[in-house]
Amino acid sequence: MGFLQNACTFSVLSQDLLESCNPFDCGHNDLNEFFTYDSQNYSNQLLGKSYCFLLDENPKEIVCAFTISNDSIKTNFLPNNRKKRVNKEIPRVKHFKSYPAVLIGRLGVSSKYKKNGLGKELMDFIKSWFIDEENKTGCRFVVVDSYNEEIPLAYYQKNSFEFLFSSPEQEKEYMGLSKDYQLKTRLMYFDLIVLSPYD
Ligand SMILES: CC(C)(COP(=O)(O)OP(=O)(O)OC[C@H]1O[C@@H](n2cnc3c(N)ncnc32)[C@H](O)[C@@H]1OP(=O)(O)O)[C@@H](O)C(=O)NCCC(=O)NCCS
Repeated sequence: MGFLQNACTFSVLSQDLLESCNPFDCGHNDLNEFFTYDSQNYSNQLLGKSYCFLLDENPKEIVCAFTISNDSIKTNFLPNNRKKRVNKEIPRVKHFKSYPAVLIGRLGVSSKYKKNGLGKELMDFIKSWFIDEENKTGCRFVVVDSYNEEIPLAYYQKNSFEFLFSSPEQEKEYMGLSKDYQLKTRLMYFDLIVLSPYD
């Protein structure tokens, strides 16, 4: 059991909560603004649900927050070796045009708490939701469009995410972007089957 489980309380990131808490600061302005000003609209429009962990000692303190929504990975995007693995057990596999996934649209750990393993604990918590027997839909992958920056890329790799496209050049080609375009994000995925009791 880690810090989030022992010393924090999990909650929906509601408007009331945002108004009663200290401003959330994960050191990334776009993310801070999203959680503070936009996350409610996303939720109201059914585009993404935001959650957080609050510090038990001081419930005005948001320790970390994330936003998730339904997504999918097109079968022809998935690297061949992974595709073979997914398809191995599936009858009439040719009918599959995409695989069910959940998208982590936003995720941040408060600057005060970074580099203490909370990001990893949070990711383990999120992954566990989608292999839980109570999960209402099938979900094979967790996907993220990570900032193309050293720390987030290292973070997702540390949490066993892989690049959906093996190189930035391949990703740009698939996205129809010109060769000299600087990718701001990289698509990454995690195959939940490795955590499934049926693997
Ligand atoms: C990315 C982020 C979530 C990591 O949270 P964290 O609680 O510090 O992460 P952890 O302590 O669990 O670290 C996990 C791994 O991430 C990587 N990492 C985290 N901070 C790092 C840093 N400052 N420099 C290099 N690698 C780093 C490392 O691989 C680390 O593993 P290690 O400690 O064994 O080296 C946090 O830095 C953050 O909120 N950043 C701003 C928002 C953001 O970039 N979100 C992700 C994109 S949506």
